[in-house]
Amino acid sequence: MQRIKTVEEMRAAMEVLRGQPAASNNGKVHKARTVGLVPTMGALHAGHVSLVRAAKESCDAVVASIFVNPTQFGPREDYDRYPRNVEADCMLLEQEGVDAVFIPEPGDMYPPNAATYVDTGQIGERLDGASRPGHFRGVTTVVAKLLHIVDPDRAFFGQKDAAQAAVVRQMLRDLNFRTELGVCPIGREEDGLAMSSRTGYLMAEEREQARVLHEALRVIQARFAEGERESVRLISSGLYVMAYEPGVRIDYLKVVNPRTLEDVPSVEGRALVAVAAFVGGTRLIDNVLLEEPFLVGVTPGRA
Ligand code: PAJ
Repeated sequence: MQRIKTVEEMRAAMEVLRGQPAASNNGKVHKARTVGLVPTMGALHAGHVSLVRAAKESCDAVVASIFVNPTQFGPREDYDRYPRNVEADCMLLEQEGVDAVFIPEPGDMYPPNAATYVDTGQIGERLDGASRPGHFRGVTTVVAKLLHIVDPDRAFFGQKDAAQAAVVRQMLRDLNFRTELGVCPIGREEDGLAMSSRTGYLMAEEREQARVLHEALRVIQARFAEGERESVRLISSGLYVMAYEPGVRIDYLKVVNPRTLEDVPSVEGRALVAVAAFVGGTRLIDNVLLEEPFLVGVTPGRA
């Protein structure tokens, strides 16, 4: 596995990795290899690994990036103490058969006079974008830069960060990126907690309390399965569960359109239930998709 630090080296490595399509080479046409990109901020866990495996399955070559992106952190957020574990991360990526890992320095990604950002408009101000002003502008900016540098055929993101996936999807469409989006299911711990690089911040007692996010979502899912469609009622059944852990401070619990992230008054077809909460000083997020049963796995005319 190649470890690459600079933008120039990364571009050069991509040319080799992809294999340049030659119109004619002794009469033979060479088809370029497909490339999958898995952008990360490191401190890798099994959730990240599932993205790498999805990329390996559908692409000829896989590139991962590790970059704790300063522009997506607010001034009072955890940029400085975000876990950094590059050696262990690289070992894991190598084991998974990743071809190259891009580990740029902040000064290389953002030269001192950098002034251009990708503004995501209203979608970037919803869910985490409402609680963390400027967060998604930082995400789309760094993702756009990574896509320009690597130019992958597919980029893989986790459903864990459902709002991020929606914002990136919007950017890919609006800015005519050729890269396709792959969104992978949420990797969970045994007790249901969504895996996160930030769970390492939790004290033992907080780790116990953190289970309530997933429990609230499961209760909402159960209410939905029983036929409840009204968002306020679904939300209040989740709030009821979360009230059992007074140490967990809810940031938001919402039922939204999974594409636009706008609140929906009731679930029609498909909706995203997303939660964010502080457990001690640690902000955790989780979500589930609700889908009307008749839309799941039914081929029209064959049901
Ligand atoms: P990071 O939090 O490191 O996550 C990298 C990718 O892994 C994201 O697409 C995220 O959704 C996915 N991921 C994290 N936890 C997951 C889990 N439990 N199951 C499945 N996928 C999971 O998200 C970022 O970094 C950054 O915002 C980034 C996109 C790299 C831009 O800086």
